[in-house]
Amino acid sequence: MKVLVVGGGGREHALIRKIKESSRVDSVACCPGNGGISYDAECYNVSATDIDGVVNLAREIKADFVVVAPDDPLVAGMVDALNDAGFDTFGPTANAAIIEGSKVFSKDLMLKYNIPTAEYSVFDNADEVIAYLKERNEFPAVIKADGLALGKGVIIPESFEEAVEGVKEIMEDKIFGASGNHVVVEEFLTGPEVSVLAFTDGKCVKPMVSSMDHKRALDGDKGLNTGGMGTVSPNPYYTDEIAKECMDKIFIPTIQAMNAEGRTFKGCLYFGLMITPKGPKVIEYNCRFGDPETQVVLPRLKTDIMDIFEAINNETLSNLDIEWSDDACACVIMASGGYPKSYPKGLEIEGLTDGQLDGVTVYHAGTSVKEGKLVTCGGRVLGVTALGSDLKAALDKSYAAVDKIEFENAHFRRDIGQKALSVK
Ligand code: AMP
Ligand code: GLY
Repeated sequence: MKVLVVGGGGREHALIRKIKESSRVDSVACCPGNGGISYDAECYNVSATDIDGVVNLAREIKADFVVVAPDDPLVAGMVDALNDAGFDTFGPTANAAIIEGSKVFSKDLMLKYNIPTAEYSVFDNADEVIAYLKERNEFPAVIKADGLALGKGVIIPESFEEAVEGVKEIMEDKIFGASGNHVVVEEFLTGPEVSVLAFTDGKCVKPMVSSMDHKRALDGDKGLNTGGMGTVSPNPYYTDEIAKECMDKIFIPTIQAMNAEGRTFKGCLYFGLMITPKGPKVIEYNCRFGDPETQVVLPRLKTDIMDIFEAINNETLSNLDIEWSDDACACVIMASGGYPKSYPKGLEIEGLTDGQLDGVTVYHAGTSVKEGKLVTCGGRVLGVTALGSDLKAALDKSYAAVDKIEFENAHFRRDIGQKALSVK
């Protein structure tokens, strides 16, 4: 088989590495890919959001299967277009991807089908939100832009003044474009967060092993929100008991709710959960593999991933037993100095051979190859990932490797996994 993966970050690199392990795969192509991915897959210069371009590329290279990884092409209907052109695909169609594409849709879905989530109100006018926030007078408040916003569409103001500023940025200055036409104001929940990615063919749902993201830029969960500075799997807060409760009250009801709405979801559904004192609640749904969760979940997958993708495509997932390794996995993100704000590009990366280092797997996010040299070209640059018999062993390996990789002003957190290690 020839498999085409759409996207070009660390998540896509992790998918490609796993797809290459499949006994049925002869070659993997990627668009647009990146410097590190180019050692593992033939990269084509087609944007991940160019639907016609990707369909044409799939035809040109005679792809047997296409995996669409990022949110924006899924929400825009790339899988629909590929299916119409006769390709087998992995990823939801647009009418199901709306579960991530619109927060208003997902909140209304949870309310209608009694799926536990934070209480909320929806607004389409800045003055009304501001009046509501003033009247309610509960801070921190949680304000979310309706549409896609590169993972940055959530603000958690500590005061009324901060909230007014945020609402104006989202709804008047439109810092996230049309995504800010509607906002959701939510109850502020507390508790540890757990990410659970789940395979589903719309008939059954098979959760993958759990993981924990570290979203803030600095140690001790300080600093700005980022796309994710590191992940560990498993997540110790996700006990067997919580897993069962999530299956019964969240995972199965969500799949059934989407079917009932005529929006059958096939692909990877990401559940962002918070384990509150009142039980697990949904913070967000994503219509795709998480980044950087995928980088610690897929290394633990023992079953051939193409068997899973095909079973989902054929709606026979319930017949397949999916196996996971008991090892723990840790991924430490090395980012450009300055990220998530502005940062330089084009800095040479030293310490890697063909993008890799012995004993770990280096998933590339923002790298490119210029004149034979590997250089930085994004905010998050590398995800240095290791398996270990326990989390401490995995973290020790990742951090030992991080110390051998250099580029000017590299920024990474020193405390990835520490919270997980402190849970007894
Ligand atoms: P999201 O983009 O929806 O995942 O939100 C980003 C982050 O904001 C989450 O990972 C949480 O840490 C936080 N967050 C979102 N919604 C809430 C909420 N209702 N209560 C407390 N924190 C929240
Ligand atoms: N790590 C969170 C996400 O993929 O959106």
